[in-house]
Amino acid sequence: MTAQEVDLSPLRKHYERLRAGGTLGVLTGAGVSAESGLPTFRGAGGLWEGFRAEELATPTAFEKDPVKVWRFYEYRRVALASARPNPAHVALAALQRILPAVRIVTQNVDGLHQQAGSRDVVELHGSILRTRCVLEGTVRSAPATARFLDLPPYCPECGGLLRPDVVWFGEMLPQKEWDEAEEIAQQASVYIVAGTSSIVAPASSLGILAARGRAAVFEINPEETPLAPLTDFAFRASASAVLSSLVRDLSA
Ligand code: OAD
Repeated sequence: MTAQEVDLSPLRKHYERLRAGGTLGVLTGAGVSAESGLPTFRGAGGLWEGFRAEELATPTAFEKDPVKVWRFYEYRRVALASARPNPAHVALAALQRILPAVRIVTQNVDGLHQQAGSRDVVELHGSILRTRCVLEGTVRSAPATARFLDLPPYCPECGGLLRPDVVWFGEMLPQKEWDEAEEIAQQASVYIVAGTSSIVAPASSLGILAARGRAAVFEINPEETPLAPLTDFAFRASASAVLSSLVRDLSA
């Protein structure tokens, strides 16, 4: 076993079900993108350290000071412009090729799963690679490499304010994505919750839903979380180490 190799025995007994078409549901959070150099929200060096989320990620904050809120998102878009998918994203895309039914649900807004080649990714919290007009609701692509010269940006059609196409605290998650995420959690044979603190509702309820359903639930997180007691096993290691080992194990 190399240093990067993880003992996957708790997962192995489920391989047969997955190979036979059982759904592998995966819920990801900021920890999965941490190894691409994008900071998480909580913990040392996290985005909320020194900032209050309510001042930057709420509709009220945007109404009060759209420039301040946009600066926060432009800071993240600049970081994203030079970020690349890491081995955890790559491994999840590989799992979608190796197994018949792998569904990825993410709280991340960085598009790195799609960049790694994953398909049908359910984005629960939107994307910072899109803008939305606050007046018309028109959604437009906004690549991270394209800078807004003036902040805040305005809608080229109607002159309304543009906002990042993300979900802020106090807002509803998009219904279609939420329905899909619930369905995946309910019908999964195996459900992996990776790189999330599991404290932000409603996404945090998906692991619980999966555990109440028919899924064997696994967590991948170097740190303890409130979900851990409900899981079949918690891998206390990085997402890249565990998921890359899983790909190698399933391909062997
Ligand atoms: P958090 O910042 O709350 O949690 C990140 C988790 O990733 C922590 O539990 C870390 O221990 C773990 N972690 C760090 N590095 C890791 C690695 N290499 N491999 C695996 N795990 C690692 O991020 P989220 O749970 O995604 O919402 O946060 C949930 C939501 O809170 C975000 O989507 C965002 C935020 O406010 C909105 O903006 C609506």
